[in-house]
Amino acid sequence: MASPIVTLSFTEATQKRRTIRALDSKTTVPDSTIVKLAEAAILTVPSAFDSQTTRLTIVFGEEHKKLWSITADALLARIGEERWNGGTKDRIANFAGAYGTILFWDDQSGATAMKEHSPDIYKDKTDEWVQQSNGMHQYYLWTALEAVGLGVNLQHYNPLIDAEVQKTWNVPSDWKLKAQMVFGAPKEGSAPGPKPQKLPLEQRLQVFGESVLN
Ligand SMILES: Cc1cc2nc3c(=O)[nH]c(=O)nc-3n(C[C@H](O)[C@H](O)[C@H](O)COP(=O)(O)O)c2cc1C
Repeated sequence: MASPIVTLSFTEATQKRRTIRALDSKTTVPDSTIVKLAEAAILTVPSAFDSQTTRLTIVFGEEHKKLWSITADALLARIGEERWNGGTKDRIANFAGAYGTILFWDDQSGATAMKEHSPDIYKDKTDEWVQQSNGMHQYYLWTALEAVGLGVNLQHYNPLIDAEVQKTWNVPSDWKLKAQMVFGAPKEGSAPGPKPQKLPLEQRLQVFGESVLN
């Protein structure tokens, strides 16, 4: 049997997942491993009515830099020099300095088909379900990439960049961009502190009927 890509347990991997924004233009695993994880996400993550509407685009190295150059141009044109130089420029340069980005899309024709074919009582819910499945793909890959030693953060420059990105990488026009997941080797000292909790667990989790015997 092929050796597993991720060797942490599910619980260990989910506990390790955090937002890491200080990233190097280096990787901890071959690009093919990252592609395999993306393939596994597409093949295994659930979707409503098994509609399978999430789409992914991975850009590595120079293609990743191109994505953040497109984002820089679009943002500068939108917010003007003053705001651009007031922090946004550095923020985008920081993302550009990472190793790669995964773009998460919703396939609009798949979403429309699910709505058309679903029973009437679900028609007002299918759009939300498409987004939920996309979010599950994001969580899968965020967790998996950090489990192989990469640092990851999640960004949202859609829809500002959609058209230029679609033109650049020949992305079908009915895919709608939902998120950009930036990854790279974490810089020294980038490990986050303990995860702060806004409310105690008992205000966020209800449990009824739990047996004390098992
Ligand atoms: C749906 C969603 C949207 C997010 N959007 C952004 C974003 O646009 N930019 C960003 O830097 N972080 C974004 N984040 C990261 C959150 O700020 C981060 O997950 C949160 O502060 C908790 O920190 P942790 O990831 O270390 O647990 C997003 C996270 C989620 C789940």
